[in-house]
Amino acid sequence: MSTSTSLTLSPAPSACSLETFTQHYGDVYEHSPWVAEAAWKEGLSQKHDAPDALADLMGLMLQRATPEQQIAVIQAHPDLAGKAAMSGELTQDSTREQAGAGLDQCTPDEFARFEQFNADYKGKFGFPFVIAVKGLDRHAILAAFETRLSNGLAEERETAIKEIIRIARFRLNVRAEQPLS
Ligand code: GUN
Repeated sequence: MSTSTSLTLSPAPSACSLETFTQHYGDVYEHSPWVAEAAWKEGLSQKHDAPDALADLMGLMLQRATPEQQIAVIQAHPDLAGKAAMSGELTQDSTREQAGAGLDQCTPDEFARFEQFNADYKGKFGFPFVIAVKGLDRHAILAAFETRLSNGLAEERETAIKEIIRIARFRLNVRAEQPLS
C-alpha cells in the first residue's frame, strides 16, 4: 500500500501564484481562504507539493492566528447533520465528509439527537461542534459529542482547532489522490 508521503498535489503549490494557489487551495479551510494566503506568503517550496507538508504549514498558520481569527474559522463550519446539510447547502468537502460518516442516513431519532446536541453545544460554547469525521460513524460522532459537551471552553476551543487542522490534512490528501483537472 502506498503512503500519503509519496502523493503530490496538482497544481503544484510551489509553482502557483498567490491567486492560483488561493483559487485551488483556498477552500481547504472551510470558508477561510486567508489560511491558504498566509501559507503562500510564508514561501512554498517543492516539499509543499506533498499534501502532508502543505497541511503542516497551513496548520501552523491557524495555530499562530489570533484567538479571534481562530474562533472565526471554527464558526465557519456547518453543523453536523444540520439544516444546511438537509437542504444541500454544504461545501463539496463538507458534503463528502458528512455523507462519508453516514450522517445523511440518520434515522429521525438520530437527527433529533444531533439537533439537540448541536443546540446544546452552541449554547454552551458559542461555536459549532467540529470533529474530523473520517473513519467515524454517526454512533461514534454522537458519543464524542456527548463527551465533549462536558469539557471546558478553553479545552474545546483547542480541540476544535486541532480537529480543523486534521480535516484540512484529510482534504489535502483526498485532493492529492484525486487531482483536480
Ligand atoms: N468535520 C468534518 N466535516 C465537518 C463539517 O462539515 N462540519 C463540522 N462541524 N465538522 C466537520
